[in-house]
Amino acid sequence: MPSTASTQLIHSAQEARAAVEAAKQSGDVIGFVPTMGALHEGHLSLVEASLDVCDRTVVSIFVNPTQFGPNEDLDRYPRDLEQDLQRLEKLGCWMVFAPSTEEMYPPGSETLIDVGSVAGTMEGAARPTHFPGVATVVLKLFQIVPADRAFFGQKDYQQTLVVKQLVRDLSVPTEVVVCPTVREADGVAMSSRNAYLSTDERCQALSLWKSLQLAKQLVAEGVTDVTELNRRVQQHFAAFPGVEVDYVAFVEAGTVQPVTTIDRPTVMAVAARVGKTRLIDNQLLNGA
Ligand code: PAF
Repeated sequence: MPSTASTQLIHSAQEARAAVEAAKQSGDVIGFVPTMGALHEGHLSLVEASLDVCDRTVVSIFVNPTQFGPNEDLDRYPRDLEQDLQRLEKLGCWMVFAPSTEEMYPPGSETLIDVGSVAGTMEGAARPTHFPGVATVVLKLFQIVPADRAFFGQKDYQQTLVVKQLVRDLSVPTEVVVCPTVREADGVAMSSRNAYLSTDERCQALSLWKSLQLAKQLVAEGVTDVTELNRRVQQHFAAFPGVEVDYVAFVEAGTVQPVTTIDRPTVMAVAARVGKTRLIDNQLLNGA
């Protein structure tokens, strides 16, 4: 439920934890939306989902260095705290936790979390240091913001599984809620990285969503052989010269292990470089 009081901005982990614990003591249900900022409609839909079912909503804004590889876009990742705060204030978010890198990773920090097989395929194979960085920062954020529920987007499907595995294996008392991907009018998934795209690249970026739609249609028509689906999807991408496909994966929903036939709930996931920008998208091909 939207609050009328203004959003508080907190940089200190100790202060954030104390405020959340006090609110919980008073009986409030706390919702939490971890983000890296540069908020778009996808993030805001997570905040709204939290506002709907929780008494107070906390959003963290932290561009987490440990989840970026050495040649990735950590330095140019979009940052606009002022605008993010305005948007969150308007929605009725209770607290924004925006720590510095030193606050999250004091000198001497070394622990990295390996959640096992769900982090091994797709993004985990393409970016080996990514999920240890995500799992580590999410656990740290859950310690600082001990929320009842935390909200993540389906757009980062494998990340949602990594977080669920982490919560289960390390007995974190936070419920993970996964919300649908929010798309632009033409189908392109909302992403902070879309801001990097030129007009022409933005047109080419549509190829990811179109590839998912193509595969879904083929499956609905009875094509279940993954080799054939892959062939048709690669053929589709060949018509987009500005797009370099990183991977197209057909994986069992929930385990993200590769399948050869679509004979169980299957997620198709795609990662591609459009110019210098790496984009990902995914969709369940069959089942509910
Ligand atoms: O999805 C993101 O924005 C990030 O991976 C997360 C979960 C905030 C961790 O840094």
